[in-house]
Amino acid sequence: MTTVADVRTAEEPITMLTAYDAPTAELVERAGIDVILVGDSMGNAVLGHDSTLPVTLEEVQSRTAAVSRATDETLVVADMPFLSFGVSDAEGIENAGRLVKEAGADAVKLESGPHTVELTGRLVDLGIPVMAHLGLTPQHVNQLGGYGQQATTEEAARELLELAHAHEEAGAFSLVLEHIPANLAAGVSEALSIPTIGIGAGPDCDGQVLVITDVIGLGEWSPPFSKQFADVRSEIERAVREYRKAVESGEFPAEEHAEVVEGLDDVY
Ligand code: KIV
Repeated sequence: MTTVADVRTAEEPITMLTAYDAPTAELVERAGIDVILVGDSMGNAVLGHDSTLPVTLEEVQSRTAAVSRATDETLVVADMPFLSFGVSDAEGIENAGRLVKEAGADAVKLESGPHTVELTGRLVDLGIPVMAHLGLTPQHVNQLGGYGQQATTEEAARELLELAHAHEEAGAFSLVLEHIPANLAAGVSEALSIPTIGIGAGPDCDGQVLVITDVIGLGEWSPPFSKQFADVRSEIERAVREYRKAVESGEFPAEEHAEVVEGLDDVY
């Protein structure tokens, strides 16, 4: 089973994918992925929202529990949703604790900033491993005014590097770098002793993460830095159309799909 210690010391590129339900998590594990992130990207990816902001702790908790039940070998990281941390440390700790104690997460991820350094340290002291997340942090979409690339100025790049060091010192076991210049991600990865896991951050991170619906081609849209490895959307649509046609034509259910029990003729 992959542990946070394995991730921290990994020599091979770390593979991470999101999953939000049991059947998908089972397939992700069978494919040998190291880490499953039960991301708050579920808001856009599967819950029909146009951002991650409405995602609740209960939704992440229920989806994390499903993913945990379906996996044995993969490290399961639960994403802390918007405002489930950062309001007060006590509430953040309690909510992270629920994801570990009740939902079976092995670690939590926090969209990080100056406000999460202390909380990261507290969680780690209490035995809850923390994955930090810098660069584009979608929970700040209203402040950022969109989902564009981050840390593109020297000042912002320096600030990001300082925060990365601060979270490493606070005890984070890894750091997600989202949508930042590839050369900055390479520099941060070189400067830290914990692994970086990139998304839209170029090839020189210590691992990569993508959103599962982008990878399998289930969503209508995916970001330009992602890559689609299958076209599940077309396959589902094809199967559903076939089903509709078969029902409408009377072809389904056929004899082999129906069970007849003798002796019921007098009932009607
Ligand atoms: O919520 C999520 O899926 C994430 C990844 C994109 C890193 O935060």
